[in-house]
Amino acid sequence: MSTEPVSGGIPVHPTFPSDRLRHNPDGPVLLVGGYGTVGTELARLASPSWPLLLTGRSEQRGGALAAELDDATARRWDLADPEPFTAAVRAVVGVVNDPDDRVLRAAVRAGVPYVDVTRWTARLQRAATLAALLRPTAPVLLSSAWMGGVTSLVAAALADRLGGAERIETAIRWDLADRAGADSVEFMDRLGLDYEVVQDGRRRSVVPLSRPRTVRIGDAPTLVAGIDTPEQFTLPLTLGTTTAATRIGFSSRSSTTALLAARHAGFFRWGRGDRWEPARRALLYSPGEGGTALLRTDVTSGGRTLTATVEDRAGQARLTAVGALLALRRALGTDGAPPPAGVAFPEQTPRPGRVLEDLAALGVTVTVTAADGARGGEAAA
Ligand SMILES: NC(=O)c1ccc[n+]([C@@H]2O[C@H](COP(=O)([O-])OP(=O)(O)OC[C@H]3O[C@@H](n4cnc5c(N)ncnc54)[C@H](OP(=O)(O)O)[C@@H]3O)[C@@H](O)[C@H]2O)c1
Repeated sequence: MSTEPVSGGIPVHPTFPSDRLRHNPDGPVLLVGGYGTVGTELARLASPSWPLLLTGRSEQRGGALAAELDDATARRWDLADPEPFTAAVRAVVGVVNDPDDRVLRAAVRAGVPYVDVTRWTARLQRAATLAALLRPTAPVLLSSAWMGGVTSLVAAALADRLGGAERIETAIRWDLADRAGADSVEFMDRLGLDYEVVQDGRRRSVVPLSRPRTVRIGDAPTLVAGIDTPEQFTLPLTLGTTTAATRIGFSSRSSTTALLAARHAGFFRWGRGDRWEPARRALLYSPGEGGTALLRTDVTSGGRTLTATVEDRAGQARLTAVGALLALRRALGTDGAPPPAGVAFPEQTPRPGRVLEDLAALGVTVTVTAADGARGGEAAA
């Protein structure tokens, strides 16, 4: 097994030492997993702006999507196959799990701007650490907060209006009719593991699906409970938030109740092994033909609260692709501000006052109200 040192003395992954990305500022944007459920939406959104290179395990499936787009090609890159991958690209967006940080390493070593929307908290922490060790010379935008960073962007927009963000609470209504790809299941499968939150300025370990409550999201009262998402880790570090909480519930209350009952019975702990995988997946993963992405973020500062309701009728994959597109523009500095240096998170946007406008331009409806019910501004497609 060979290891190859890089300049900082950090060994590259022993199994994948030979991937060679090169930075070509006029080249295509590489979408890794670029013809999956989120990848297809992102490819369609990004295609008018940049040439694209779509990769996955099937050049044929990628080629079918590439043929629909203006200037796109497809190649095979199986992240589990040690066959080296070589390309000269403008930027990289990870839209498939990168379990060994193979894509991250290749991009950082080549000085290629990098965006990722796939990492759950522990993987985001590992990615941030690895990127810091590799001393990136190009942006590494870890945009895995809910909906490819959209929730964090909206939180930053409200924090900008309020002059701070002591509390940020997000409630997600997961539409059971919505589409979701097979690669999303791994994330949902982590409900047996406790996670850390910051609450009233103190770090606490919490059990997934605990602290249930009913929250009105848009017009829909929704039973939601805690879930581990990366923004609960980053927001206290970036915006100085002293309470950050994200909760999720299904569009059907009885399905959420069944999920909470399974949690209560300890199913996600004792049912963690392979034997129980089909039962776990049946509870967590039953994608439909298409639904609406709907969530609500409440930001409080100085005794004032603003609530944003975010809706994308094209569904969660489309809204995640919107988050990825905005992250790509940020990493490339094509959104009107210079790109970030090194590791960054979406809520660190230097243009928080433009977030709602950007979302509206991409067909996402965001309605902002103050706690007294007054309209705090609206951006709608
Ligand atoms: N941050 C967020 O809020 C958010 C929201 C939604 C999704 N996500 C994440 O986005 C990712 C994609 O989700 P999705 O629903 O689009 O999944 P998906 O439909 O399964 O798409 C995965 C894509 O990656 C390819 N792929 C699978 N295994 C691969 C491998 N070993 N090497 C290279 N390519 C591979 C697939 O094509 P082949 O099978 O042909 O290889 C497909 O193109 C997931 O990690 C999910 O958790 C994040």
